[in-house]
Amino acid sequence: MNNQAIKYEIKENIGIIKGANHPVNALSYEVRKGLIDSLQLFLKDDNIEGIILCGEGRTFFAGADISEFGKPMQSPSLNDVIFEFENSNKPIVAALHGTPLGGGLELAMGCNYRVALSSTNLGLPEVKLGIIPGAGGTQRLPRLAGIEKALSMITSGTPINAKDALNSGIVEEVFPDNIIENAMNFIKSKLSLDNHPIVSKLSEKVSNIQSEVFDNFSNKIQKKYRGRKSPLCAIEAVKATTTLTFTEGLEKERELFKLCHDSKESSSLIHMFFSERKALKIPDIPKDTKILPINSAAVIGCGTMGGGIAMNFANVGIPVIVIEDTQESLNNGIKIIEKNYSNTVSKGKMSDSEFKNRMSLIKGATSLESIVGADVVVEAVFEEMKLKKEMFSRIDKLAKENAILATNTSTLDIDQIAESTSRPEHVIGTHFFSPANVMQLLEIVRGKKTSKEVIASTMKLAKNIKKTPVLAGNCDGFIGNRMFHEYVRQAHALAEEGAKVSDIDRVIYDFGWAMGPFAVNDLAGNDVGWRIRKRHKQEGKYDNLRYTSTVADQLCELGRYGQKTNRGFYIYDQQTRKKQIDPEVDIMFEKVAKEKGISRRQIDDNEILHRLSWALFNTGCMILEEGYALRASDIDVTYAYGYGYPHWRGGPMKYAEDYGLEKVLEEIESFRTKNPDMWPKCNYLEELVKENKKFN
Ligand code: 3HC
Ligand code: NAI
Repeated sequence: MNNQAIKYEIKENIGIIKGANHPVNALSYEVRKGLIDSLQLFLKDDNIEGIILCGEGRTFFAGADISEFGKPMQSPSLNDVIFEFENSNKPIVAALHGTPLGGGLELAMGCNYRVALSSTNLGLPEVKLGIIPGAGGTQRLPRLAGIEKALSMITSGTPINAKDALNSGIVEEVFPDNIIENAMNFIKSKLSLDNHPIVSKLSEKVSNIQSEVFDNFSNKIQKKYRGRKSPLCAIEAVKATTTLTFTEGLEKERELFKLCHDSKESSSLIHMFFSERKALKIPDIPKDTKILPINSAAVIGCGTMGGGIAMNFANVGIPVIVIEDTQESLNNGIKIIEKNYSNTVSKGKMSDSEFKNRMSLIKGATSLESIVGADVVVEAVFEEMKLKKEMFSRIDKLAKENAILATNTSTLDIDQIAESTSRPEHVIGTHFFSPANVMQLLEIVRGKKTSKEVIASTMKLAKNIKKTPVLAGNCDGFIGNRMFHEYVRQAHALAEEGAKVSDIDRVIYDFGWAMGPFAVNDLAGNDVGWRIRKRHKQEGKYDNLRYTSTVADQLCELGRYGQKTNRGFYIYDQQTRKKQIDPEVDIMFEKVAKEKGISRRQIDDNEILHRLSWALFNTGCMILEEGYALRASDIDVTYAYGYGYPHWRGGPMKYAEDYGLEKVLEEIESFRTKNPDMWPKCNYLEELVKENKKFN
């Protein structure tokens, strides 16, 4: 009867059902079937008086098997399984550890009792996949934990820890260790009771709730979940606990679950889930590649990026030395780090002792010699090739033998930097995004000679410091900025042709991006690009790099660098940072258009969206064709985690694929007839369309 995915055993008068579907005990068909079979066996066995449900390995059941979504459902459904457990005439305790999530927690709520290890994190993360809990979670959690807690957990999808679960009534007891032994004692202590609690029959916490509670909650989350459907469906499902019977509520949940399950939002978010994990797999780097241990770090340059990079190490307990060339700039850099952590403390998100602990892990120095003991050295000095080469040749002489030598350059050639050392195989690009302590993406740039060990170790390091890594090849702008360059160029072209700056940003914001291209430029500082353009002019590279409008340069010449000077493409309130349209900027575009002989016209929102989206996409296809990205889904991850692209649209490549590659190509071709320079032909895309193929 033991199948591969479920094991069972009997100890004294207690039956133990154990999930063994590694690695996360996803509730696949085999698991569901095994659960029912073993339960029935235990119910028939008169020697068994109580049952423990638990998971083997790293976790209790972490939810439905996401890879089964969209395929025909094989009976028994998870709801069927939960009903069998709920209707058991022998008491059942769910012994939780690891990450009981989604269907896993729903199954646990179908048991009479729940106990947990103190390290457990549990929750209903379904909205992160664009769905809602579909196995009674929206109906049982409010009955256990109350409406407010359930709304917060289900709409955010964020897991809570065991202590919180105990305080909220989701679990009965929490143990520091020995979960099975403790669950055994727990269930034995309940055997003499005549009745055992059944969550679906509880009603106290869902009675007499005013409907405004739901309206208020929905208003509160509206901005955060702009454009999303599933969080609102989740609220509607939870509301059903206060107006309908349990059975009717389950029907409502099913109806809403189906609506979400069949949506683009869900297929896009599921694509994101698997893409993020796929990005970790590098075809030519075997799983057993040696990983270099990283127990200490050094960051050279403690400016905008270096400070944030150092915080990433301290946040996970890795001691880090930050190096500046003068004591004054070192003090400034460390002061900014301290201020960042203090802000977190004042928001109540970090304790004083943790603040002290993190600061104690960050040491400052003004001499490069201090890098000698570091397992990884990250260079984050000014973006100048000469300086970077100089730094790397000095780093080479000082760093320990197996150290990873990383550069945070955003535009420079990694191979050239590597050549200034005697060990180019140890040199790699780690392109953090600003603010480096917040942004989740880490673009890891592979040089021609970077060794497999160094790549595998840097990917691992990225995960350890809680980043989402994507491997890129060493081309100009790597993956993200190379595409962004074309996107911004397109935005400028639209503005010259007649679209208003604020309309372009509005269309992009309404699509779901965090902000439009002009607002991003203002945030990042227009002077950054200006300096690069000036340098490119001096180097004679300007024309080849195909910059578009001179308006950005004109603004910089007027000192309008963006938010930092309260004026850029927009005007910013000094105190509130609220932005206001600057009509002068549209006039500047109009003037440039006149000089270039461009006849201006009304441009509709659809054209704005498609030109910007396909500019990104076409460049993404070129990057794939040239082999600088491993797969289209890596590009999607890059954009979702590094550029504020809406996850629920799946990323620029998935969005275009959903729209239809043939239609996208047709539109690109029509744009190309008007402006060939902006729309280079991509053979890879043409082949995909011709052969009616999809990405991977
Ligand atoms: N279904 C299928 N595969 C899953 C899975 C799931 N629910 N959860 C994880 N996996 C796979 C991953 O794809 C990965 O596969 P790979 O090794 O081939 O890349 C492997 O399991 C390990 O996953 P992680 O690398 O993510 O492992 P971590 O230890 O870092 O994280 C985790 C573990 C916290 C459980 C994380 O995997 C996770 O968040 N999983 C998703 C949990 C979830 O969303 N559950 C709800 C599902 S929807 C549901 O239950 C609907 C219900 O209401 C009806
Ligand atoms: P920054 O100007 O804020 O900081 C650079 C720091 O390096 C300064 O504090 C400077 O004093 C220090 N420095 C210069 N020479 C040094 C030396 N010889 N020894 C020690 N310290 C030295 O610059 P920022 O923005 O932090 O950029 C650093 C690197 O990160 C650049 O390569 C940049 O292209 C890259 N980058 C920047 C991003 C951003 O948004 N600012 C995003 C991603 C990458």
